[in-house]
Amino acid sequence: MSEESLSQEHHTFAPDPAFAAQANGTKELYAAAEADHEGFWAQQARDRISWATDFGQTLDWSDAPFARWYVGGELNAAYNCVDRHVEAGHGDRVAIHFEGEPGDTRTITYADLQREVSKAANALESLGVGKGDTVAIYLPMIPEAAIAMLACARIGAPHSVVFGGFSAEALNTRINDAQCKIVITSDGGYRRGAPSPLKPAVDAALEHADTPVEKVLVVRRTGQDTTMVEGRDLWWHDVVDPASESHEAQPHDAEHPLFILYTSGTTGKPKGIFHTTGGYLVQCAYTSAVVHDLHPERDVYWCTADIGWVTGHSYIVYGPLANGATQVMYEGTPDTPHRGRWWEIVAKYGVTVLYTAPTAVRTFMKWGHDIPTQFDMSSLRLLGSVGEPINPEAWLWYRKWIGGDRCPIVDTWWQTETGAIMISPLPGVTTLEPGSAQLPIPGISAEILDDEGQPFTEAEKVGYLVLTKPWPAMLRGIWGDPQRYKDTYWSRFGPKYYFAGDGAKYDVDGNIWLLGRVDDVMNVSGHRLSTAEIESALVSHPKVAEAAVVGASDEMTGQAVCAFVILRQEAVAEADEVGEGVDLVKELRDHVAKEIGPIAKPRQIMIVPELPKTRSGKIMRRLLKDVAENREIGDVTTLADSSVMSLIKEGLVAGA
Ligand code: WTA
Repeated sequence: MSEESLSQEHHTFAPDPAFAAQANGTKELYAAAEADHEGFWAQQARDRISWATDFGQTLDWSDAPFARWYVGGELNAAYNCVDRHVEAGHGDRVAIHFEGEPGDTRTITYADLQREVSKAANALESLGVGKGDTVAIYLPMIPEAAIAMLACARIGAPHSVVFGGFSAEALNTRINDAQCKIVITSDGGYRRGAPSPLKPAVDAALEHADTPVEKVLVVRRTGQDTTMVEGRDLWWHDVVDPASESHEAQPHDAEHPLFILYTSGTTGKPKGIFHTTGGYLVQCAYTSAVVHDLHPERDVYWCTADIGWVTGHSYIVYGPLANGATQVMYEGTPDTPHRGRWWEIVAKYGVTVLYTAPTAVRTFMKWGHDIPTQFDMSSLRLLGSVGEPINPEAWLWYRKWIGGDRCPIVDTWWQTETGAIMISPLPGVTTLEPGSAQLPIPGISAEILDDEGQPFTEAEKVGYLVLTKPWPAMLRGIWGDPQRYKDTYWSRFGPKYYFAGDGAKYDVDGNIWLLGRVDDVMNVSGHRLSTAEIESALVSHPKVAEAAVVGASDEMTGQAVCAFVILRQEAVAEADEVGEGVDLVKELRDHVAKEIGPIAKPRQIMIVPELPKTRSGKIMRRLLKDVAENREIGDVTTLADSSVMSLIKEGLVAGA
């Protein structure tokens, strides 16, 4: 089959009997969850997690939408992810095969992990971190990232991991919002063949006098020159290495906060999504087992996400480790030092289950299938996709060229807020439909609503995805802002429905297709960005009077950030004088990178004389999207000034 014809034919893929025979997922799970929702989740909790104190009530929904799962239960997440596997005799099993970008490696067994996590927990306690204190983690993809998270979980100190690609400004906002007492960072990490510094961003983030941060713990990764602030900064190796290897893991309440993770919403202020211990761990463990089909005694699993995103939390740290699985952790970029690096890693470690994002698959498609075919990838048996819709062409390419035409693919829909996988096929059970996440997994219920909030089941009609029953890994709120939690998720269609913010439809077979965000959240390469956040970054530049941002569809990244900017009067005059339009666009793009991070840099900035607004002053982003996507401009009848769109089209000064 040629690559062109891949997209032309409609294929479904029935489960391979050999795969089905060994799969953890079964048809019976659907029936069991259907028959007794809470009973099903109680069973999962008792089968998959070790509780120091058993729970009573499975779900307390009396204060909806604030859920309490596994009421009265006590457990320790780190004990569940590490110690109990050692106690069960698996101390010699590899937990993490670490592959640094320059090619250095580390092999960390479960016994090693237990020692490292215990030492880190002791070290944190010696620095004054106790139960309930929040800890910021700003690290590259190195084992210390997982070790630090587990050490926090062990002592009951909620972690707030901030993606290493975020700027000092973004780090500062997140540290302050969660009032973090300590920051764990490194001198730097390796990216694209060179050491890239991290510590200077921490220094800049902490410059403000009122910072809550008392200590900064710095892992030495690259050995680059690093300024250490006397009395505040400590090297990880000075504090953690000499600490005791034994640490008693205390049980915490099932509803004790495990972590905060900031994500973009529809306003400029990122939301601190917070998750608690019991329910989150149960659903991570369950989904790693039935969706990723992990068999810890024989699988080598690899999730290519960064630990700074929820996928890294649930499917590098908590899910696979709760199952006692062996996994690969890779520090760097897929094209360093060559475009076959990932496939070389698959071959080297015999990776069996690979979990990645559609944007990566599309990049590999562009690079060509003759790259992966140079490597022996016969160990692979299951592929996963997450972060954005995977188009059928990319799905079929992934199956053919990475999965050797034999591996099932699980397209998994979920969110930072849902904590764990919600909609996905079960490998070995579901007949796969390329491009669709298909069905809620057993224990999860979803519906699609129309504009009036009525559920429907007609095929091909577009509506809004909602979740209709509470689930164990659901967010427990937005840190410090319970009202915003209610307003954002539980009011659009009334208190019965969790509004996910995604458009969706059914096909004729009843499969759910996710159609992207319906709010002002963009999805660029599987990363969530808010239009409002980028607009406020642009407006904070002295030359900008007003800005509007839209997500325009992009073949490679799913969506791309496109900004329309009105300059201040002085800046317009200056730009005309020296003809510096192009420089200015660069300056603005760099400004966004500084305010938020390089991932938020607009692909395009268009300097315009006006923005299209309704009579009540609301920016009509729909029309700007038409411009950004090079389409005929849609209905302009509600515009306050109907000449604005032609002004914009004629007056586009620059596009970078
Ligand atoms: C999108 C990432 C279609 C969706 C785990 C969601 C998806 C947002 C899929 C959450 C998928 C994630 N198919 N869309 N398989 N997975 N999304 O919080 O728009 O970074 O609302 O969590 O990503 O992004 P987040």
